[in-house]
Order: sequence, then C-alpha cells, then structure tokens
Amino acid sequence: MSSATAPSRPVPRPGVQAIEAYVPGKAQAGAGVKVHKLSANENPLGASPKAIEAFRDAAALEFYPDGSSTKLRAAIAAAYGLDPARIVCGTGSDELLMLTALAFAGPGDEVLYSQYGFLVYRIAALAAGATPVIAPETDLTTDVDALLAAVTEKTRVVFLANPNNPTGTYLPFDEIKRLQKGLPPHVLLALDAAYAEYVRRNDYEAGIELVATSPNVVMLRTFSKIHGLAALRVGWMYGPAEIIDAINRIRGAFNVSAPGLAAAVAAIEDASHVERAIAHNDQWLPWMTAALTGLGLTVTPSVTNFVLVHFPEAPGKTARDADAFLMERGLILRRMDSYGLPGALRLTIGTQEANELLVATLTEFMGSAGHGA
Ligand SMILES: Cc1ncc(COP(=O)(O)O)c(C=O)c1O
Repeated sequence: MSSATAPSRPVPRPGVQAIEAYVPGKAQAGAGVKVHKLSANENPLGASPKAIEAFRDAAALEFYPDGSSTKLRAAIAAAYGLDPARIVCGTGSDELLMLTALAFAGPGDEVLYSQYGFLVYRIAALAAGATPVIAPETDLTTDVDALLAAVTEKTRVVFLANPNNPTGTYLPFDEIKRLQKGLPPHVLLALDAAYAEYVRRNDYEAGIELVATSPNVVMLRTFSKIHGLAALRVGWMYGPAEIIDAINRIRGAFNVSAPGLAAAVAAIEDASHVERAIAHNDQWLPWMTAALTGLGLTVTPSVTNFVLVHFPEAPGKTARDADAFLMERGLILRRMDSYGLPGALRLTIGTQEANELLVATLTEFMGSAGHGA
C-alpha cells in the first residue's frame, strides 16, 4: 500500500537529524612523535593491574555475559552500602543517559540541562524525540535558579553533571538539594557523577543519600574515568526501584560484556588503585593550574581530572593555534567549539611526563612571536 504523502524512502524520526554526532577526543598527532592523549579525561595511571588480570581471565568469548550484571551490582552495592536491586549497569554511563531520556521523555516533552552540560544530554533528548532546553550558567557553573526558572509543565528529565564536563566546576550538595526540592515531583533529576571520585571538598557529596531518599533522583557513575576502564564501556545507575525497573525493560539484554563485568568487579574492589589515582590528581591538578596561570592563561578552577584553559584572541595565540602547535608535538587536547567555547581547550591531567611536556610546550607557544605553529 502506498500513500501520496509517504516519503519514498525510510526517514528518521524528527529530532534525529538535528543531532550532531558526538565527536570523541582525538587520538592521533603529528607523525613520528610520542603521543600523549589528554583529550578524553582518561586515567593516566591506567587500569588496576587486578582489573587487567580479571579482564584477561574472562576470555571465554563464546558465552553470553550475565545479563543481570549480578556480581558487579553486588560489588558496587558492597563498596557504597547500596541495595543491589536498585542498581542497573550499562554500556558506559552514556547508554544509561540515553535510556533515561528514552524511558522518561518523548515527543512533546522537554529535557533540561545547563548551558555547558555534557554534550550527550542533547543527543539523548533529541534521540528520544524530546525537546532539549538549555538553562544559562553563571561563571561556567550550573545555576540552580536558572534551571528552576526553565522548568515548564513539559519538563520530564533534568540532566546535571556534577562535577560538570567540560568546565570542571561543581555544585555543593546543598545546591543539589535545593534543585531537587524545587522540581515538580514528576520531573526526574539525573545526577551524572562521572567524576565524583576526584572531588575532595567538604561541601560536595556524591548525592547518594539524596538518591536513596528521593523518588525522583537517580545517579549515574562510570568505570571509564578513575577506574581506567574506558575501553570496556561500563557504567551504572542507582535510583528508585521503579526507575531502575523502567531502564531494565528497555536496555539490551546483555548490555555489559563479560570481560567488562569481570574487570569492573576487580576495579571496584581495588580501592588502593583508586587512591593512587586520586593522589596523582591531587598532586598534578594544582600544579597544572598554577603553571598555566603563570603563563598568563585563564584556567577555570576544576575539581576534576581535567581543566578548561582559555586562550587569548590575539592572532597566533588562540585556542586553535595552541591546539595545532601542541598536536605537532604529540600533545592532544580537546577543542571546545562544539560546546560553544571556541576560545578554550580542555586538557586531562596526564602522567608526569605529559604534564611537564605540556607546560614546557605551552611556555614555548606563549613566548613565540605570535605566529603559532
Ligand atoms: C559528565 C560525563 N558523563 C558521562 C560520560 C560518559 O562516560 P562513559 O559512557 O564512558 O561511562 C562522560 C564521558 O566523558 C562524562 O564526561
């Protein structure tokens, strides 16, 4: 049967074509130079040796994994004192962000997030057929009042990364509570805590307690950052039973691979590796911030394992020029054009070698006579 108005070929749902595909951090640089990838907030210490061993031992590739991630949920629950029935694991937290939008928002609904919020929120909203709504930030930091002012009767989901990527800024726990209190009860607040382990502040809490006691709050976490398992794609979400149930209904039946599950269990049990990664970051984040500031660059204060660096607009000294200069020398940073911050680059805290090389190279760049690379 054909209709005069039907398109002549399959057409994606409205919204899908409005998505600009996520552009990951680059991984290649100038020919013949040693590459330091500082573009994706990965752990410079790598994964725990125990996780690598568990990964190698999980090479029975002919078998489907445990579709319920039972052992991993138990290990996460033990580590954080949670109810394993209220945890769902995913193919990275990216998958769980997408599923959250799909399960709770659709055409006619709005998905709200803040101006420099993680790019996947927009993709998830549009993929679900919903309308993305953006609340302005103040000083590159989420503004709770702006978020609350943007809530309408159509709002279904609020995505909030705390700390946020790419800015590295965070909201104290009191502000998160104020946001939750101000939202209508049917609006789901999805707290994306991908970098929670790096935050060493008295006024920051991962918000787990808020999730445990609120019917409309979930928290997303990842094994890609501090645990150094980005290649394996493992994330998890903790929330009210009804919300976890909805995600379980629409996720892939075997959405976390067996090697991913095995490595993640070993990673979460290896608290000393996490401590080493935190100690490394605690040493190099202030060092990097001070060194770049000393070069006359503006650095947004970060509580994470990356910093946003703002470059001058002078020809030869721009973020674009710096990126090209660094890339030639094997240092790969992240351009921020897609976030509407073309004057900035984001860099991940790396190994000692990478950090020192970066500062030496930027010293050369800033000192050079204004013709960039
Ligand atoms: C804020 C934030 N949330 C979620 C993710 C997705 O992490 P993954 O899918 O690797 O778990 C990232 C990755 O960069 C992130 O920065």
